[in-house]
Amino acid sequence: MAFKPKLMMVDPSHFEVSYVINPWMKPGAWHADPARHLRAAQSASAALQAALTHAGAEVLMVPGAPGLPDMVFPANAAVVLDRRVLVARFACAERRGEEALFLKQFRALQAHGTLDAVVQYPEGIFQEGAGDCIWDDTRQHFWAGYGQRSAKASLQVTEDFFNVPVVPLELVSPRFYHLDTCFLVLSGGEILYYPPAFSAEGRATIESLAGKENILEATDEDAAGFCVNAVNFGREIIMARPPRALVERLEERGYRVTGVDLDPFILSGGGAYCMTLRLNRARAVSGKVETGFPSETATTQESAAAERAAAE
Ligand code: ARG
Repeated sequence: MAFKPKLMMVDPSHFEVSYVINPWMKPGAWHADPARHLRAAQSASAALQAALTHAGAEVLMVPGAPGLPDMVFPANAAVVLDRRVLVARFACAERRGEEALFLKQFRALQAHGTLDAVVQYPEGIFQEGAGDCIWDDTRQHFWAGYGQRSAKASLQVTEDFFNVPVVPLELVSPRFYHLDTCFLVLSGGEILYYPPAFSAEGRATIESLAGKENILEATDEDAAGFCVNAVNFGREIIMARPPRALVERLEERGYRVTGVDLDPFILSGGGAYCMTLRLNRARAVSGKVETGFPSETATTQESAAAERAAAE
């Protein structure tokens, strides 16, 4: 059985841009014509869901809630690996109400047998989920962003809970406030990243751990278009409408790129990756699977997890 990525998305019925917690957010633009923007957001979310499904993923759409517009970005809800969930502690008061609702969703998935353990970061230790903690299937470690929304102290919690290495990357730009806005790990081991978002030490860490041949630098245009904030599984990459040059660079490496118009969500500072949360990531049992596209080939544990999920 081919391994099917399972992604959570949140229904955008309650989405709006009503406050500013990052420099991309434009409540003025939204409120100039909220009905039109909401319609556009609904079709953008549906288009993303369709692109993901078409590329071979399963999408689990869960409800949002009034007054919590940024729930449409479930990447920030938790870090998930090996059926274990570490639920976020939001740095911004505006998003804190999401914690209880996402906890409820994860507990329901746990009761249903899809997830094993659901725990939350300790109170006072801010961490904004998979947006700041990105699994690297090739290298079998997390890359963790800190310095904007997530606290450095969260890294030790992540490491202890999942029992895997966590590599710290300091984020230095308020425009790239989550790691996923400026850092994308691809299944073949390449890393697309936007250097100005990182401290000198962070850039050096990325270069030394990734290896020169695996580094792809994102341009200003790629980063400002939220194209680095992409979903990848196997050879499929789904992202906000990309510049032609970026598509070509990724195609050269053997990937297939699908662009989706996500403009209504970019008005809130989010793109494709933020709008999803991968629920069935698993570490390899005995190291990396040496094929061109490792995550397309199920590891033993992934197969076991996928089979358990299918048997539900
Ligand atoms: N308005 C949201 C915020 O500032 C956008 C979150 C985007 N998510 C992400 N993982 N980058 O929190």
